[in-house]
Amino acid sequence: MSKSNNYPIGLFDSGVGGTSIWKEIKLLLPNESTIYLSDSKNAPYGNKNKEDIIKLSIKNTEYLIAKNCKLIVVACNTATTNAIKLLREKYDIPFIGIEPAIKPAALKTKTNTIGILATKGTLNSKLFEKTSNKINQKIIRKEIIGKGLVELIENGKLYSDEMTQLLSSYITPLMKQNVDCLVLGCTHYPYLIPQIREIVGHNIQIIDSGEAVARQTKAILEKHQLVNTSNIEATHQLFINKNKKFLEFLIQTNNQIKVIEKDF
Ligand code: DGL
Repeated sequence: MSKSNNYPIGLFDSGVGGTSIWKEIKLLLPNESTIYLSDSKNAPYGNKNKEDIIKLSIKNTEYLIAKNCKLIVVACNTATTNAIKLLREKYDIPFIGIEPAIKPAALKTKTNTIGILATKGTLNSKLFEKTSNKINQKIIRKEIIGKGLVELIENGKLYSDEMTQLLSSYITPLMKQNVDCLVLGCTHYPYLIPQIREIVGHNIQIIDSGEAVARQTKAILEKHQLVNTSNIEATHQLFINKNKKFLEFLIQTNNQIKVIEKDF
């Protein structure tokens, strides 16, 4: 085992949402330390142009590399679909990305109609177009931009009337359009699953990629012989460049898990 096996896994997102991925990774890989960046000051990324998303992704990546991360999880669909290609070309470190899980949805749907809730930046990206072209073209895709959802979550309005109304305006029409699978194409949205269930009941399957990303992270660590096999207890540092209160609410801090508010 080389020294770098003990180094942490780095993750970043435009905000607190990527902790939905961080939680899955922590569950599957309890021995691995992590450093998470919540770039809440610059959220949402989904309304920005590709160049700006790339610039922010580079900033986050360089911060994580300077902190000795051995692998980086881009815990953001918008950053993955717009920037991961360039990140992989520019840095000599393994990257794991996340994209809307339309392939599993295409295999699961019985009505041949799937809904995809994601940011404008993700739905308009070349990578999403490429992935969409690879699935069975008989599948009808209802794409919805979740405008305003990330902002409400970042402002701590997870359980609010505003959130219920906005979600309902996006999702209720899908039920009349024969949709039986709803893909959550943004890492903030798994935090909305209880509210979405309230709206769709059990008529629609909700699909997100968190577990699959954790499994892929494990596979890539193994492939590069980067698994931490030491007995030292894992530690987790979550950096946020805006009010840390809501992040502390979303995750349970303890001696091993620290939330640090600072610029990066
Ligand atoms: N969590 C990000 C994603 O997965 C949110 C994007 C945004 O900031 O708009 O796309």
